Amino acid sequence: MAAGKKAPRITALVAGNWKMNGLKASRKEVSGLARRLAKAERVGCDVLVCPPATLISLLKEEAKGSKIAIGGQDCHANASGAHTGDISAEMLKDAGAGFVIVGHSERRADHGETDATVRAKAEAAHRAGLVAIVCVGETEQQRDAGETLKVIGGQLAGSLTDAATAKTTVVAYEPVWAIGTGRTPTADDVAKVHAAIRETLVGRFGEEGAAMRILYGGSVKPSNAAELMAVPNVNGALVGGASLKAEDFFGIISAYI
Ligand code: PGA
Repeated sequence: MAAGKKAPRITALVAGNWKMNGLKASRKEVSGLARRLAKAERVGCDVLVCPPATLISLLKEEAKGSKIAIGGQDCHANASGAHTGDISAEMLKDAGAGFVIVGHSERRADHGETDATVRAKAEAAHRAGLVAIVCVGETEQQRDAGETLKVIGGQLAGSLTDAATAKTTVVAYEPVWAIGTGRTPTADDVAKVHAAIRETLVGRFGEEGAAMRILYGGSVKPSNAAELMAVPNVNGALVGGASLKAEDFFGIISAYI
């Protein structure tokens, strides 16, 4: 961003990551959320639900006419081919997804995904016309060793595509030790990491980097959402456990209502 230019206005995104949870009956959480959103006078953020791939079409239908977008949780780098069990970005798009999460720490840990894998998946998302939500975050050990910013810098450098823009790419900062644990960094710690991410994004992508959304994720719940969402350079949340129930997820979205 050129010196003296005003920081762009960024519309926040509150995204739910259902992980490996949800059956057809869970559609009632989406209709319940849609009802709550419709009653709210003004919702000042975008809203996204990323269910397991088996539910994308169904929830897309359920979300019709509401503000809720639907996304996938992962994609293969290729558009099609002999990859048993995998799902391509094109398939997610065809099923009704507008977004896909790539590089979640659970996939990096459970499936050995490297920054290069994640970058290829982000490229696939862009090829298919999906917004890629690229996840980064340090482990507790790395944090204790004072390596947080170094680790995240490396993940950003390796995982983001050169063509990333504010429209095609969202960054999610999720400290691994805060995911599903009920523990969160302090607002000050979140501010420091998000400021460093912003600086990196601006350094690499200029104005696009200044306008890119940076989400915080890891044990976000209705009781801490307002404080975390008020931190500078936090442009929304990536929510796991508390996105499964309409009431809780709406409680988090309420930070923007
Ligand atoms: P959590 O998960 O909200 O349950 O901590 C966040 C995530 O993994 O995206």
